[in-house]
Formats: sequence, C-alpha cells, structure tokens
Amino acid sequence: MPTPARIHVAHALHEVFGEGGRVPDIWDRNLGEDAHLAQALLGLCLRRWGRLQAWVKPKLKDPGRGVPLGTQVALAMGLAQLAWLPGVSDHAAVNESVTLAGDRDLGFVPHKGLVNAILRKAAKNRQALAAELEALPPSLDRSPAVERALKAALAPHGAEGELEALWARLQRPPRADFRLLKGDVPDGLAPLPELPGCLCMEEGAPFPRTWLEAAGGMVQDRSSQALLAYRWEGPVTRILDACAAPGGKTTSLALRHPDAVITALEVHPRRADRLRRTLEQRGVAARVIHADAAEWLERAEDSFDLILLDAPCSGSGTLQKHPEWPWLPHEDLPRLTGLQRRLLAAAAERLAPGGLLIYAVCSWLPEECETHREWLAEARPDLAAAPVWPGSLGVKGESSEGPSSVFRPDPLHWEGEGFQGFAVRR
Ligand SMILES: C[S@@+](CC[C@H](N)C(=O)[O-])C[C@H]1O[C@@H](n2cnc3c(N)ncnc32)[C@H](O)[C@@H]1O
Repeated sequence: MPTPARIHVAHALHEVFGEGGRVPDIWDRNLGEDAHLAQALLGLCLRRWGRLQAWVKPKLKDPGRGVPLGTQVALAMGLAQLAWLPGVSDHAAVNESVTLAGDRDLGFVPHKGLVNAILRKAAKNRQALAAELEALPPSLDRSPAVERALKAALAPHGAEGELEALWARLQRPPRADFRLLKGDVPDGLAPLPELPGCLCMEEGAPFPRTWLEAAGGMVQDRSSQALLAYRWEGPVTRILDACAAPGGKTTSLALRHPDAVITALEVHPRRADRLRRTLEQRGVAARVIHADAAEWLERAEDSFDLILLDAPCSGSGTLQKHPEWPWLPHEDLPRLTGLQRRLLAAAAERLAPGGLLIYAVCSWLPEECETHREWLAEARPDLAAAPVWPGSLGVKGESSEGPSSVFRPDPLHWEGEGFQGFAVRR
C-alpha cells in the first residue's frame, strides 16, 4: 500500500489530467509530516509533466500509442522521486510506484511490470536520469495556453525575448505573502521593503498557521496588496466589492477605509457563506450579498464612491501558484470576456460622481483587461483615467515615474502573481 502522501498526489494528478479539474487549495490538509513530500512531489510532476512523458515515450514498445493515465501517473511519480528527491530511497521510489500502478483506481494493473522495469533501470543511475530530464527542452512543460499567456505578459514591457527567463521564474515554487491584521508580526515574517504592510516568509521559517487561524493576519499575494495600495484622496463612504470571495480584498478595503459601508457580492452560495464567516472572524463589517453582480448592479439603485471589480478570469497570471494551470482545459474565453464586459458596464453605471472604479484580473491576457479599458474609454467619455498607482509598477510607454492609471507589474522583476488592472474616476 503506498503512503497516504503518494496516494494523495496520485489522486491530484488524476483530477488534473483525467478530470480537467484544479487541485483544491486544501488538498494536502491532514497529511501532517508527509505534506512536505506530497507538496514537493506534486509540484515536480505538474511542473515537469511534459518532459517526464517525453522521457518515457521512446522506452515504450509502441511509442505512438502511448499508455493509460494510471501508467503515466505511476511512472511520473517514480521518476520525479528518483531524479529530484534525493531524500527518497530507490526502494521507496520504485516499489511504491509499482504498487500504485497495480491499484485498480489509480494505476493500470497490466502495466505493473512495465513500470517496474522502467523505474528499476532508471534507479541504477539517478544522477544520469536527472541530467537527461533536465536536458529536455523547457517548452515540453508548456501548453499553447501558457505560451500565449507568457507572450502577453512580456509584450507590454517590450520583453518578448525573455520568455525562458519568465518561465524559469514561474517554475520555482511560490512563497506566500501576508498582511498583518492585528497584533504583532510573528517571528519568521519580514516586511517587503518596496511595499509597506506586505510581509514575506524568511528563508526556512515555518508557515505561520496558528497566527492565520487566530486571524492575526491573512495570506495575500503582493500583487493584490500593490493593487490595493492605490493613492486616492476622494471621500469614500460607500464601497462595493463586486466579486468578493474569498474576501482578501474586502478585508484590505475595510482596513483602508474603516468608516465606509462595504457591500460585498458573490455569486457562488458556498463561497458567499465562507466570505461571511471569514469577514466576521476578521472583525470586518460588510453587507455580504449572494448575487450575480451583473444582475444585482443592473437592478440596483445605490451608487458607490469606490467600486472594486476583481473579475472572474482565466487565471493565466496564477501559473506559479497553480502549476496545473497549463494542463487544464481553458474555459471558453469569449464567454468569460463577455461576462467581464457586462460586469464592467454595470459597475460603471453605479459609480457615484467623484467616485473611483478599479477593475482587475489575475491574468495577463489583453482581452481580459486592456481591451475592456479601451472599450470603456470609448463607451463612457464621462469616466477619466485615474492615475492611482506608481508608474514604476505600470506599463512601459506610460510614465515610468509619474503615477499610472494602469496596473501591470513587470513580470520579470515583480515576484507576485500576474495581475492587470486599470482605474477610472467619474
Ligand atoms: C478573482 S475572485 C475574487 C477574489 C477576491 N476579490 C479576493 O481578493 O479575495 C472572483 C470571484 O468572483 C466570483 N464571481 C464570479 N462571477 C461572479 C458574478 N457574476 N457575480 C459575483 N461574483 C462572481 C467568483 O466566484 C470568485 O469568488
């Protein structure tokens, strides 16, 4: 019987490659000590899936035919352990993968012998295996959707030639960033000099789980924190967070504008419930409404001084945190951009005179942000670009010193998620 860590990894790989589903954020909960092995192994298999399959292919009797997913999973897990996890013994890497191959649900029983033969041979020289795998082209680990996202990330910065450098950065496992909510900063977290309020983990520090559970702080990527560090002096008494769950940005808005009344919308009932509980636990007063924001906004009569539209998107900017992203079937982009446009149009209608509207997506694709910005400028001449972010984070071509109305950190130099946004005022 393989260890629970390996069973969890195999399940997650089946979810991604078999079902086209995401790896849930809490997939490794309750794994205890084994969580480190499981996280490392799953990350390696997802980040290097293409080269692992390419290495196996010529060793098959009929390379053109391929092998079932159960065999692919058992081989990828075994090879990843042999090549890149020196702490795992040959015996554990090979035998547990062979047992996995023999599991009716997770493997492919007739290929137990094949998995055994390939892994045993590879285990004879683990260094050579690692070298052979490393020598394969990095592009094997990228899908066409990734190529497109990387090109889109680099183009506005005139850095199209740096695709491999960006990809190499995104292949490194990410480190979480945090935001203090109350009390003292726990040991092991240090301030990020370029972004006041943002905390990052020091090398080797333990994950601050107890502090997070006690709502002393929250995990929040530095890109989200930088987005919410907009400079705005206008009066803010009514805030709308149009797509609010899980509530990180609602919390930040409440911290920035403690006297404002916040309305937070969320279309998914379970996420809306969780949002309500999270905000309560953090002591954030907000009116949480379970609703489709487009419908709600089109019906609403209220207007708001500050609207944040952190829209549902392709998530192309979250590649580093979600190494399964390259392998997922991508949602129909025109449907998504249609929804974003409808949300944006409805939000613009509800912006009070003198108010600020911030639109953002965790994606690099121009049709999820830049195209909407251009459309809004034409459709709503009563809205003016609002330069609320430091230009150094913004687009090359706009001022690199003065403030910018476009939020698009340079992906080569900014170690946060890929985010884009823009701000307009009425
Ligand atoms: C990018 S996430 C928001 C993240 C959030 N702002 C934060 O910082 O924690 C987008 C959210 O919008 C929700 N959503 C998607 N379509 C929506 C709609 N039509 N109306 C309201 N919420 C929607 C999704 O369920 C998801 O929770």
